Order: sequence, then C-alpha cells, then structure tokens
Amino acid sequence: MTDIEANKDMIDKIINIKQKLGNQLVILTHHYQRKEIVDLGDHRGDSFGLSQRAAQDENAKYIVFCGVHFMAESAAILAKDHQTVQIPDMDAGCWMADMADSYLVEKAWNEVTAIVGKNSVTPLVYMNSDAFIKAHCGKNNGAVCTSSNAPKAFEWAFKQREKIFFFPDEHLGRNTGNNLGIPSNEMIVWDPEKPLGGNTEQDIKKAKVFLWKGYCLVHTRFTTHEIDNMRKNFPDAKIVVHPECTQEVVRASDAVGSTSFIVNYVDEAPKGSTIIIGTEINLIKRLVTEYPDKKILPLKDSLCPNMYKINLNNLLSCLENIGKENIVTIDEAIKKDAFTALENMLNL
Ligand code: 13P
Ligand code: SF4
Repeated sequence: MTDIEANKDMIDKIINIKQKLGNQLVILTHHYQRKEIVDLGDHRGDSFGLSQRAAQDENAKYIVFCGVHFMAESAAILAKDHQTVQIPDMDAGCWMADMADSYLVEKAWNEVTAIVGKNSVTPLVYMNSDAFIKAHCGKNNGAVCTSSNAPKAFEWAFKQREKIFFFPDEHLGRNTGNNLGIPSNEMIVWDPEKPLGGNTEQDIKKAKVFLWKGYCLVHTRFTTHEIDNMRKNFPDAKIVVHPECTQEVVRASDAVGSTSFIVNYVDEAPKGSTIIIGTEINLIKRLVTEYPDKKILPLKDSLCPNMYKINLNNLLSCLENIGKENIVTIDEAIKKDAFTALENMLNL
C-alpha cells in the first residue's frame, strides 16, 4: 500500500468511528496540529478556546484532545465525571511546561512569600504548565491564563494583590507587563537554579512582577535580524508573532497575539496582502493553503516536535480504544485546586 492509500484507509476508519459515536465523541484540535488532523476534528482553536469547549461540551462522553499533554490535562480538569479525556500520544509534552518543576515552584513561592508576605503576591500560571502548578495557584488564590487573556489576567491579579508571580514563560510575562506599561526594572527574572532566584531581598521587595525563567524553544528561535531581512525583502508586509517570542521580536513586529489572534489577523487582512508569521510552522502551512489570495510566509521554519507527535496512526488507535487507552487522569486533591485556578480564568 502506498502512503497515500494507507492514509486514506486510516482517514476512512476514523470517519467511520466518528459517525458511529455521533455526539458522544468530540475531537478537539489545536492550531499547531497538522492539516489532516485538524480536518478530522470537531473544533479547532487556541488553548483558551479549546479549554472553553472542553468545559461546554457536556453531551460528549469522550473528549479526544489532539494537542500537547498540558492541554488535554486542562480539559480533564474541566471535564464532568461522566466524561473521559484521551490524548493520542501520552508523550506529547511541552518543553516550556517541563521548565516549571513542582518542587522548585513551591520552593520559590516559599522564598518570596517569606520576604513579602502571602498577602502581597498573586500567583498566575500560563496554561502551559502541569496540573500541580495550576493547583498551587488555585490554592493560593491565583489563576491560569493563556496568551489570549494574559493582559486581563494581569489586571485581575493586580486587583487582588500588589505583586504577581508568573510561571513558567518569562517572555509572555514580560510582553504582557510591557503591554500594561509596567517599568522593566519592576519585572525581575526568577532563576530557579539560584538562591532567591538570583535576586536580592531588596530586589524582591521592590519588584511588581516575578518572571519564572522558562521559555519556548519554538518561539525564542525567532530573531530581529530575520525581521529586518523580511522588511527589506517585503517592505509592504505585515509581521505578526506569538507572545512567547522575545520582547525584541515582539517590538519589531506589527502585531502580537495568540494562535487564534494570528488566524483572525490573516483572515481580516485585505486580499493580496503579504503577512509574515512568527509561530509554529504547521499553523502557517495551513494558512497558506486556506488563504491562496494572500501571500503568507513564515518568519522562519520552526516546528514543535511535541505537537507533531499526534498523527493519523495514533489518532485512529485512540479512537479504536475509546474510553480505554491513553486516558488523562489527575489526582483528585490536585484536580480540585487546579479547577479553581482554571475557573478563575474562565470567569475573567
Ligand atoms: P495558544 O494559546 O496561543 O494557542 O498557544 C499555545 C502554545 O503552546 C503556543 O506555543
Ligand atoms: Fe510548548 Fe512551545 Fe510546543 Fe507551545 S510551541 S506546546 S510552548 S514547546
């Protein structure tokens, strides 16, 4: 069998299972999934939109999440008791989420609050984190946020208390702080490998935002040098990037936002326009085929290998074992506090 025939065979089987299960099954696909997976999904979106969907789709008994583990885990935290959440590949993790180790987060939190007091800091955690970190935030009256609601979450957090501890993406945290006009000397980086995160007690007392030293390898690869080159070659182009990029790249771009923001930006751009995008390559490749009337180029080819782990083969296997294999489970005690943090985000 050729690859094309093998793929067609798998696609037919997946469609067949979907038809049999009807509205008992919902397949959620993140924007970074490859085209053939997105085409088979029921809803595509950014991590905020998909978490909203997971919280809404009460009819579905089975939620199959085509994305990375923290996204499926968030869906499982929001799911009702009668629902199961499955992910086609349990090893589809996220490097950035792995940079906030639960032991180090607790240690950092204890160090900061010993200096400024618990009533001075709101913990805010990016969706790209494991359930334990989300539970830590829920327990300490904090919230989850995503790239589409980070400014709102910062404003909410500052209404609760005067400082924010933001995990684990230094860049999303700094870009959000910049956007809200927080002076750069009031945002300090917390390096978990150093005593007091590499700061003095004085720095900690003065700071408004603590930025955990985590980053996305897919997005920090983009440079201002590439932007300069693109501007030279395509002077009329607009450049849009994801907020996990560095502040230098964000400042050199025309627009910044979540994956759904980028999709809408392309959708709303006038026919014939040139748009250069700094985010994961599979989303850009799909936009190229979906908008043939616009010239869409990647700032650079940057692929998330974890998102790419989901394929037709493991999606089919997941559906053939619906409700049985690759089920995402969470310890009940952690689930309760993590739910609080996610609910605080959904209520924003
Ligand atoms: P979005 O929330 O914008 O979909 O981003 C998720 C992500 O992992 C980006 O790297
Ligand atoms: Fe994680 Fe970066 Fe991949 Fe997003 S693109 S899932 S942040 S590694």
